[in-house]
Amino acid sequence: MRSSRSSSASRSSRSSFRARAAAALIASAAVIGSLLTAGSGVAHAADTPLRDLGAARGKVIGTAVTGSRLTGTYGDLAGAQFGSLTPGNAMKWGSVEPSRGTFDWAEADRIVAFAEAHGQQVRGHTLVWHSQNPGWLTGGSWTPAELRTLLRDHIGTEAGRYKGRIAAWDVVNEPFNEDGTYRSTLWYDGLGADYIADALTWARAADPAAELYINDYNVEGVNAKSTALYNLVRSLKERGVPIDGVGLQAHLILGQVPATFQQNIQRFADLGVDVAITELDIRMTLPSDSAKLAQQKADYKAVTAACAAVARCVNLTVWGFTDSDSWVESTFPGQGAATPYDANYAPKPAYYGISEALGGTTTPPPTGACTAVYTVQSQWNTGFTGNVTLSCSGASLSSWRVTWTYGAGQRITQSWNADCAQSGAAVSCRNAAYNGGVPDGGSVSFGFNASWSGGNPVPEVTLG
Ligand code: XIL
Repeated sequence: MRSSRSSSASRSSRSSFRARAAAALIASAAVIGSLLTAGSGVAHAADTPLRDLGAARGKVIGTAVTGSRLTGTYGDLAGAQFGSLTPGNAMKWGSVEPSRGTFDWAEADRIVAFAEAHGQQVRGHTLVWHSQNPGWLTGGSWTPAELRTLLRDHIGTEAGRYKGRIAAWDVVNEPFNEDGTYRSTLWYDGLGADYIADALTWARAADPAAELYINDYNVEGVNAKSTALYNLVRSLKERGVPIDGVGLQAHLILGQVPATFQQNIQRFADLGVDVAITELDIRMTLPSDSAKLAQQKADYKAVTAACAAVARCVNLTVWGFTDSDSWVESTFPGQGAATPYDANYAPKPAYYGISEALGGTTTPPPTGACTAVYTVQSQWNTGFTGNVTLSCSGASLSSWRVTWTYGAGQRITQSWNADCAQSGAAVSCRNAAYNGGVPDGGSVSFGFNASWSGGNPVPEVTLG
């Protein structure tokens, strides 16, 4: 088979006939030859999905999602691995009412429908916040009475629209400063601290079945901010204001899981509210390496264990499950790799940290892994274009060979960025002279055209 170089950029944007398979190479970086394979792109074949591990312990394991991405591998993983979805942005005021009185529910509707189709809960995020509000709202000048009406109507409209379909609402997001005083916001400045009680009361009226939460960051350990939140929840309960839970966002830094995390969860539980870890991610200084990924695994495991140890910690949600769908890199310069799956959907050690803390038994290769993912990128009546992406996390390759056996008579006619040979049904592709190296944290792709008829099942690929 001839090799030729060509760009696959336009191919990769076509996704109507996507399918995938992955093979995980379990080998130490030094002993590339020994390997085990797994047949799906999800994780090692023996792994129990996180949602099932969580369910067995009475925990819902969730993820934030981007509605437009809920197809292909992203959709497969979101549906298979998680028991709840939180719209990362789609339910924020600025998303749903970009112009006053003009609503766009498309992405939020899509996420709710996807969740219902996959037997998942939805965590609504968020009704009252100082950020990501529409310009017409933040740019307006409002009397307190007008502000109150705007907020009441917004909550009634949004929580009312999804009435009965949202397990929990982050009704109020990020009300505190680091020192435990109230944050100066449109709401606090205009309405005083009672905007919180009012918002909760309006949310209860709009959707009586939803659990109502206050959510904040830097409240994972016992500190001034979490104590202010604790005192607020206690006083709301004393006043009979509807409050069912607190959300601890948990946007954490590598190696800095607060020692008092479990104690803090427990003190909220003892107030008689549920606790959710609502936005877990653990960022590191890039590039990632195997030591950082091992620390990240330990950190994810510690957070999950803290939740697992407290009965009222009901949900643990990651803020994006793949490094390709995380807010971290664009928000914290030089930081990233904060989620449990890498950008190519290979589970990282962090994934196994969550799994192990929930009683999962599969252990990842201690020194990391390289994976190969086979994708049908486009397909027409007699032919198709395929792609294989090799990626390494905590390991590296200096040369590679990917093999598979076609099950339905497919034949490769051309390849690029690899030397491919086919004998009968067996295909073997070796690196080209210029792309044998796959560094830790890096990836290499090659492509091919092939013929098919009757069927085009995705083969299981082996990296060796
Ligand atoms: C983030 C989203 O992930 C980004 O896509 C967006 O640009 C900014 O907001 N705390 C929250 C979330 O409550 O809503 C934020 O989400 C992350 C911090």
